[in-house]
Amino acid sequence: MKNNVNLQPYNSFGFKATAKYFIEINDVSELKDLIQSPEFKQEKHLILSGGNNILFTEDFFDGIVILMNNKGIDVLIEDGDDVVIRAQAGEDWPEFVKEMVRRGLYGVENLALIPGKVGAAPVQNIGAYGMELKDSFLQCQAMDLTTGQIHIFTNEACCFGYRESIFKHELKGQYIITSVDFQLSKQGKLKLEYGNIKAYLEQNDIASPSLQQLHDAICAIRDAKLPDVEQIGSAGSFFKNPVIPVEQFEVLQNRYPEIPHFPDEEGMVKIPAGWLIEHSGPTDTVSWKGWRDEHVGVYEKQALVLVHYGGGQGQDIVGLARRIQKTVEEKFGIRITPEVNFIP
Ligand code: EPU
Repeated sequence: MKNNVNLQPYNSFGFKATAKYFIEINDVSELKDLIQSPEFKQEKHLILSGGNNILFTEDFFDGIVILMNNKGIDVLIEDGDDVVIRAQAGEDWPEFVKEMVRRGLYGVENLALIPGKVGAAPVQNIGAYGMELKDSFLQCQAMDLTTGQIHIFTNEACCFGYRESIFKHELKGQYIITSVDFQLSKQGKLKLEYGNIKAYLEQNDIASPSLQQLHDAICAIRDAKLPDVEQIGSAGSFFKNPVIPVEQFEVLQNRYPEIPHFPDEEGMVKIPAGWLIEHSGPTDTVSWKGWRDEHVGVYEKQALVLVHYGGGQGQDIVGLARRIQKTVEEKFGIRITPEVNFIP
């Protein structure tokens, strides 16, 4: 275990923060040793995966930061077209998706290039382009941080929802996911309906894409819309897309006939928060989209993404997020909530 470690390289926003203790886990046995240590019993802890969905709001983390770095991808079952793959928590998510596509396995292709690691994917049920992790998630293995025992959580036990799981709520801080099992297939139907996938394929003269072509198309679409965290700090979408009752939506639609919307659960409608943010601003005549303060701002190509240009602090993003929430609520009567985890 190291002391006073700079966490700047470990959070995609690129904010400076120091961890009192820091440990990298390369094998599950190391995790077991850690939780039996006196330090672990005394200190609070933070589980860090890719650091792509967290915001350090303070410059010191007074506890142990645990970085999951265990690797390995194994075939557990191969039965006709059905394949079960186990990936260790520390595997890089985009590389894992790339590898599954290379092997001709369907089930995670639309989740290409989502930054992060395998172990964090179930925590917020990552999703993109009409697909969610839960669609191919069979089960995961997770260590109980009090007993050191490994428990298996089935798909049902994880209580997945839109960017939600039991690991964000009832079991928050109680388990560390050590590996995830995926139910994939050698045959599959590609999901092309969402957003601009079809438009992109048409522009590139691809009539019926292969698995690899769809993967590559999604990478290109994401690259064009989302900032490269090597260049500009961000945590992807900062807010969740709000889901509101149909009645409330109809009132809004009367005032803003062009408002984009998607059906959700019975009687509910999902509104893209990016649109609400783009159509609000620091003043009545200025949009948040592309707005920049000294160190932080709203990404010019996707208003749902808050960015850190360097030299700022987590509190700058906290302040900007509050202002955005307030102006969106004043204009549209909708409270948007962060999907990013605030630490501490
Ligand atoms: N829109 C605007 N202005 C903007 C951005 C979006 O008007 O600046 C409207 C447009 O109508 C657009 C619609 O919002 O058609 C949807 O935008 P987009 O396709 O970019 O998707 P999103 O709903 O903003 C979600 C996920 C992303 C995921 C994309 C693609 C959430 C919170 N975000 O964004 O996930 O990549 O769909 O499927 O659900 C992430 O979670 O970090 C993330 C990037």
